[in-house]
Formats: sequence, C-alpha cells, structure tokens
Amino acid sequence: MDDAIKKEAARLQRELTEHSHRYHVLDDPVISDYEYDMMLKRLVEIERAFPEVSSPTSPTQRIGAPPLSAFEQADHSIPMLSLDNAFNDQDILEFHNRIVKRLNREDILYIAEPKLDGVAVELAYENGILVQATTRGDGITGEVITQNVRTIRSIPLKLQEKKRKCPPRIEVRGEVIIRRSAFDQLNKRRLENQESVFANPRNAAAGSLRQLDSKITTTRPLDFFVYGTGLMQGISFHHQSQLLAALKDFGFPVNPHIKAGISLDQVLTFYRELQVLREGLAYEIDGMVMKVDDISLQQQLGEKIKSPRWAMAYKFPAMQKTTTIKDIIVQVGRTGTLTPVALLESISVGGVMVSRATLHNEDEIKRKDIRIGDTALVMRAGDVIPKVVKIIKSARTGTEIPFEMPDHCPVCHSRIEKFRLDKTHINKCVNSACQAQLKERVRHFVSKKAFDIDGLGKKIVYQLVDEGMIRSFADVFSLDMEKLVTLDRMADKSVGNLIQSIEQSKAISLRRFVYALGIDHTGERAAKLISERFLTLKDIMGASEKDFECIHGIGPETAAAVCKFFSNQENMAIIDAITLSGVIITNEPPSSPDDPGKTLFYNKRMVLTGTLQTLTRNDAKRQLEKLGAVVTAGISSKTDFLVAGENPGSKLEKARKLGVEIIDEARFTLLLKEYS
Ligand code: IVH
Repeated sequence: MDDAIKKEAARLQRELTEHSHRYHVLDDPVISDYEYDMMLKRLVEIERAFPEVSSPTSPTQRIGAPPLSAFEQADHSIPMLSLDNAFNDQDILEFHNRIVKRLNREDILYIAEPKLDGVAVELAYENGILVQATTRGDGITGEVITQNVRTIRSIPLKLQEKKRKCPPRIEVRGEVIIRRSAFDQLNKRRLENQESVFANPRNAAAGSLRQLDSKITTTRPLDFFVYGTGLMQGISFHHQSQLLAALKDFGFPVNPHIKAGISLDQVLTFYRELQVLREGLAYEIDGMVMKVDDISLQQQLGEKIKSPRWAMAYKFPAMQKTTTIKDIIVQVGRTGTLTPVALLESISVGGVMVSRATLHNEDEIKRKDIRIGDTALVMRAGDVIPKVVKIIKSARTGTEIPFEMPDHCPVCHSRIEKFRLDKTHINKCVNSACQAQLKERVRHFVSKKAFDIDGLGKKIVYQLVDEGMIRSFADVFSLDMEKLVTLDRMADKSVGNLIQSIEQSKAISLRRFVYALGIDHTGERAAKLISERFLTLKDIMGASEKDFECIHGIGPETAAAVCKFFSNQENMAIIDAITLSGVIITNEPPSSPDDPGKTLFYNKRMVLTGTLQTLTRNDAKRQLEKLGAVVTAGISSKTDFLVAGENPGSKLEKARKLGVEIIDEARFTLLLKEYS
C-alpha cells in the first residue's frame, strides 16, 4: 500500500471525526451533509481495500458491525447506583438537613442538572480510545453493547486532547436519549412499515441499544449526554462541575442546562425554572438531579446500598396518568373535519387538570382499540392537547363499548364525506354553513395570529354565533354596545374594551388577513410566503394556481386550496363585506436600511446553496453579514433561512425536512435590494 493512501485515510479519519463532533455535539457544522457523505464514502472504500488502515476509532465504525449472537456480560468496576427520589420541597429540605448534620457544616453548595429520561450507559476509555460500553444492568453487572454505542454519533470513539492528556483509563457515565422530533419521525416510519410503535423515547432508546445487529442501531436517532464518571486512573477533580467541564473538553456532550455552585434555595428555584423549560426542551426530562458539588464532601458522605448520600432526584409531577374514558364525542373543526375526543374522569397530569384528550381520527381509535369505559394512559406534553398513549387492556371488564364514527354531522346533521389524506381516513361535514364550522372559523379569524381581537374568546364567539349575531366574518365588525351587553357575563367595562379591540384590529397586514381567512392547508407560514410574493389582496385574487405553486415553500395542495378559495363567489362576497366594514389591509412596511435590527436577516442563521445567477456566493455571504446574518455551511434545526440557487442538492432536501424557510434567488435579490 502506498504511503499517500495511508496518509489520505488518516486525514479522512481525523477530519470526519472533527466534522461529526461539530455536527452532533457542537451543533455547528462547517461542511454540508453531502460533502461529509462523500468523504465517508471515500474512507469506506479505502478501508475496504486496505483493512490495515482501519481502526476501532475510525468514523466508519459508526455504521454498524456484524451481528452478535448474544450480549456478553461485564461487571462495573464501581457499581452504578441509582438515586433516591424526592417529590416535594420538604423531601429536599430533609435531604439537605441530613447532609448538614453528617458533615457538621451549613455552607453546602450543590450542582443541579436535568434528570434525563433515557437509558444509563457506562463507557470505558483506555488511553483515550473507547474500549467498552455497558448497560447499567442490575448496577453490578451490565451487558456489553460496545458495537451499538459506537453508532451513536455524539459519543466520541476517541477522546480529544485539546486541554489535557487522556488518562490511562476513564469510565464515563451518561444517558442515551432520543429527541422528541426524531422519536416522532422514527414512529412515523415504523407505522408506515407496519411495525409496532414505541410508547416513548426512553423505550425506543432502550430497544435500540438492545439490538444484536448494530446495523439496526445505526439507523436509530440515538443521542447522549454525559453526567458522571466511574473509575478514573491518573486524573481527579475537586468539583463535579469541574469534572463536567473536563468531560466536555474530551469531546462529550454535556447538558447546557446545569447550574453549579448553588445554595439550597437556588436549587429549589432552579427546579421551578426547569419545569418551565421542560415543556420547550427537545428531549424528555423527568426531574432534576441535585448533587453535592464538592467531590471530597461526596466521598465523606459516601453511599448507602443502592444510592449515594450526596445526590437526590427531585421528580417532576408525572406527565402520564391513567384514568377512565367516560365517553367519546365528536368535534367539528373549522374546515368541517370531525375529530373524536375522549371525555375523561378528571385527573391532574403534571399539575394541570385534564378532562379530555384528542383521539385524532378514526384510524387512531382503531389502531389503539379505544372503547368507551376503557382505562387509558393519558399524556400531557407542553401546550399540546392531552392524548391517549395506550389503553390498559388488562383493566377491561367486558362492558366497554366500541366507538363508531357517526355518518351524519353531530351538529347540523348533514351528510359526512369520507376520504383519505396521506393514508389517514378523514370524515368531513359537507355543509359549509354548519354552525360548528362557523364557530371555529370565527375563532380562528379573531385569534392572536389573525385579527388578534382581545376579549373574543371561545365562550363569547359561541354565544354570538348561537344568538345569530355573527353569521359571517364581517359581522364581527358590526358588533356594538347594544348587542354585546345582552350577552351573559359581559360587564360594561369588558364590552368597552372589546369594542376598542375590534376597532384596533381593523388595520391588518396582508399576511395576517390571508391567514385569518382559514383557507385549507394555509397556515401562518404559507400566508406569509403568499403575502410576500403578492403585495396586495387584489394581486392574490388575480393569481393562478401555477403562480402559487411557483412560490418556494408552497406545495400543490396549498396552491390548489388558495386558488379554489378565491374563485368561489361566496368567499368573494365575504371578503367584500369585510372590507366594506372598514377593514384596511396593509402590506407590512419594508424595513429601514439604517436599522439592521429591522431587516429580515438580522441575527438569523443562514445557509447558501446552489449557484446564484446574479452574484457570487461570497458576495451574497458578505452582503448578508452586513445585514447582521450569521452565514454557516451546514443546515441544522437552528438554521433560519436557506437561500437556494440553481442545482441546490441535498441541502434543499434537508431544509425541507427540517422546516427551514427557503428563499429562491428572485426573492433573495429583491430582499437584498430592499434592505441595502
Ligand atoms: S447521576 C449515583 N445525573 O437517573 C448517581 N443520573 O435514578 C448516578 N439520570 O441511573 C446518577 N439524568 O440513568 C445522574 N443528570 C443526571 C441524570 C441521571 C438521568 C438517570 C441515570 C440513573 C438514574 C438514577
């Protein structure tokens, strides 16, 4: 083998390792996925031809190895303990008091971390090289899952020696997780392939680590955060926080939401902050872990049989609970779609009372075999409507009643149209004058992102429609004192505020107006794209389906729906009535070039791809940076815009997948002109 090949392999191994770390740990890629894939392909070719240049730390090891017949077992050098759980502040106070008493000092400082809801693993590195990965098992003995762990891109196969030399041996411990979005995608894929779905990300992570064939594991979106160590030789630390910093320098992902060197009070405050943060996090956490930060104090405190005396998990209230389904009703949405909803025996989930859960559609009810009277595991996550995770079949008594979708609208009794959309069966009330549809359309029309009329909540809209005071959108603008005071629970003051809010809403941007109309398949993003392409409502009304399809980011379904909406005479009459009632549609003013804070690109992460006709990529980059943009090479979930020229390649695909906004060259040059 010639020296040049050897050198090339070594360079590829080094560079690919670096790029993979940038992508998976730092979330700051500097090359495109395509370039990465091409380099990896080349390395695979070389290693296949000359196996002697491969090594256990080569990036090629991440794509899986020959399957095993069984997992070997291995003892942990130091047992992997578990944590005691606290469920309220009092438990934490008692934990603190025990420590104060044992150490005979008051000034205890802690480190507090999110409790990641995944699977614990231990990774052993010898002279910087990953030699073994094990599951926790019973805490004493675990299963050897090295091949599977090598496929996890955020786990280094080789430690970085940027700040310090690698110790002869270090065992690190952490949690393997799957991010929510990746979990949803994984389940979607499994559903399409008629495979069983995972109940939650933790189960999916555990199942993926337990594969004998690591070629399967490599297709699973596993991720990792480090939180501690086992045996360490030739290296030691004074504080837990210092240890985490060192692990970060070695190349491990450390969770960013960690507070170190804090007092008991600060720990309790952090617990509350974390509960708020939890809802927006990309992965699941089920509590907070607090640890005494000073490692010599940890050693003085020691441990009990199963758990250390220096750490405690403060669990969050459960986000999943079981309760009974009292009934299943059907709701009619703004476009007429029927959605089955479970009425539940009220229960507190994660601190919020829950009495209904969406069942999405007929297919979901069939798939989960949901019946009236069933005991169900119900989940609440973030702001989304609670849903049924699964039915506890073992709790059935035989009296449960299967549910059938009605064949007439439960509100207006019109015929139901049944059709399929992306493999899902949809039931739709065909009567666009259905009161239930009107109520939901009006609610959407006045909602925050549309006309934003304060004080027109669900109850009032429903009353106004029931009383016949609102028969179409335009009626909203003729609501007056006289009409409103007749409503239940409307005091003079709130009527006054409401009328003022209605007046203020009459000046509206084109973007909000288009969104407010509630056209099928036309959400906020589509409304924005359409209003940016066409500057007036008149232009939109005059556009053809093709014109809409030409807008980057607008799909054929939206184009057809928008076109259909504006060619319907009734809709035109509604729009006329709205404008006649004093509504003025403006386009949002172009930003002032003197104030970069006002440009669309300020502080935005942008990626350029493909060939631009009117300027070079470098020029485009320079101009964008002048406008305050941060131009990066690779697309990630943090990217705000992708500028796509001709022959855009894989970045465009990826941007679409991630929902990154795409700007074509025509719009890009227009925007540059506008801001410069
Ligand atoms: S420290 C001796 N820190 O919780 C204590 N554990 O119930 C070692 N976990 O098996 C654990 N996030 O899988 C620690 N930031 C964190 C954690 C964490 C999740 C898990 C871990 C452990 C379990 C204990």
